[in-house]
Amino acid sequence: MSAKAKNAAIKSRPDFPVAQARRYLEPGPIVLVSSHHEGRDNIMTMGWHMVMEFTPSLVGCVIAPSSHSHRAIRESGECVINIPTVALVDKVVGIGNTSGADIDKFEHFKLTPEPSRVVRAPRIAESHASLECRVHDASLAERYGFFILEVVRACAAKAPQNPETLHYQGDGRFMVAGKVISRKGMFQPHML
Ligand SMILES: Cc1cc2nc3c(=O)[nH]c(=O)nc-3n(C[C@H](O)[C@H](O)[C@H](O)COP(=O)(O)O)c2cc1C
Repeated sequence: MSAKAKNAAIKSRPDFPVAQARRYLEPGPIVLVSSHHEGRDNIMTMGWHMVMEFTPSLVGCVIAPSSHSHRAIRESGECVINIPTVALVDKVVGIGNTSGADIDKFEHFKLTPEPSRVVRAPRIAESHASLECRVHDASLAERYGFFILEVVRACAAKAPQNPETLHYQGDGRFMVAGKVISRKGMFQPHML
């Protein structure tokens, strides 16, 4: 590549601070993790999660050791991952900026705790989908806040089919899910 072409490439795709890599890597959707411990329900907002396996259904996620949820989930061994839509954006931000150590977030943010089917942590009735989870592996929880959860029961609203989920970009900005395209015919069956 000539020096001129290299300069043009740098100009068209300039460097940015590595701490902002999250803007492109955090896929979302932002979720609300509900827990139940020592007789109290709680909720936290979470963006740092990833699918690790289909069967068993494993999800890796980071729950900061400093949060109230961390101890609740570690000690109870359970939680529910609830998927909110854009209609809940202000509650999502509020829940992520307050602690269950200080307030009852279900009451404060006017959300409805709904009994789960197999875990004691409640589902959030207003969310589009709820994934009941048990802690599968917490061996990196103390060091990195990293938990591997197993989804043991899941439910979702029948409509809308493509919910407007929230995808956090950092700096207070959310991208809202929209257009859906299909390439189903190009996939190997086991990858679907
Ligand atoms: C958009 C957003 C995304 C967040 N993602 C995470 C996350 O992935 N992991 C985490 O530990 N905290 C995350 N937080 C911060 C927690 O939600 C926050 O610390 C919360 O107050 C914890 O509540 P708790 O103390 O009741 O557990 C996020 C907050 C916001 C607003």
